[in-house]
Amino acid sequence: PEKIIIDTDPGIDDAMAIFFAMASPKLEILGLTTTFGNVSVDMATDNALRLVEMSGHDIPVARGVAKPMVQKGLPFPDFVHGKDGFGNVNLPAPKGEAIEPSAAEFIVQMVLENPHEVTLVAIGPLGNLALALQLEPKIASLVKNVVIMGGTVLEGGNMSPVAEANIVGDPHAADKVFTADWHVHMVGLDVTHKVVMSDQVQANIRDKNPMCGEFLYKAGRFYSDFYKASRGADGCYVHDSSAIAYVIDPSLFGVEVGPVRVATEGVALGQTILKRTGYDYAFDHWENISDSSVCMSVNAEAVMDLYESTM
Ligand code: BDR
Ligand code: CA
Repeated sequence: PEKIIIDTDPGIDDAMAIFFAMASPKLEILGLTTTFGNVSVDMATDNALRLVEMSGHDIPVARGVAKPMVQKGLPFPDFVHGKDGFGNVNLPAPKGEAIEPSAAEFIVQMVLENPHEVTLVAIGPLGNLALALQLEPKIASLVKNVVIMGGTVLEGGNMSPVAEANIVGDPHAADKVFTADWHVHMVGLDVTHKVVMSDQVQANIRDKNPMCGEFLYKAGRFYSDFYKASRGADGCYVHDSSAIAYVIDPSLFGVEVGPVRVATEGVALGQTILKRTGYDYAFDHWENISDSSVCMSVNAEAVMDLYESTM
């Protein structure tokens, strides 16, 4: 199986994605690294520990960054994920603790110990990846893949008309990640808004899944209610699990390849700007920037089938 580290801010759809990855025979989770985002980093760390304990797996959790690199932290979106990050189901405190190394240190250590074998899957703001690159720039050439859930090119944002939450949560970190000397695979709103998880699928998973089914179903009610009320969706959008699906089977997605920059100030704060091919521009903020693969289309039915059958 493919070795992955999930960098996460759990978060209801993060919980779905983590259980999806745990259930997949194609993936081996080396660790969960946590960041602020949907909730504070302390709560994200406790929530990651809760998920690991619920699963019965033995997976280390490393605590990461508590705030953005430069800008002030944004308010936590409790109207999307609840005050506890899990739709106000209020799970008991975790028994275990985070490991000693920080998230960034853990990422560096794992990549150096497993050269060309580790895929980083980031499903929250990107501070830990930016910090890991700063601690040890060599990781850029030693990771296997970098897959992030975040950003938007043509779809438009969910935090502003142009900005997606994980990117605008720490735009400076995101720009560092996109401009580093590695190839980022971006699974953003252009595809995640096309993958919708119905109530029926969530009920099927609850019925088949004694371990995490009831929890995911309860938290999923809060999450789906938000997307139904605010977007008129027929269930919830599948953000973070789409990134996991991409790692398992990238052929389910269509990508456009090119360099991406992130706007770090002004009205476009957090916009992910892909230099699309076939144009000549007067400005070149994209010169000598490594290419990313940006997901622009998706076989949504196949992604949902993969999720449901794996779970
Ligand atoms: C992203 O923001 C968070 O609300 C979700 O967990 C996901 O990672 C979607 O914009
Ligand atoms: Ca997330």
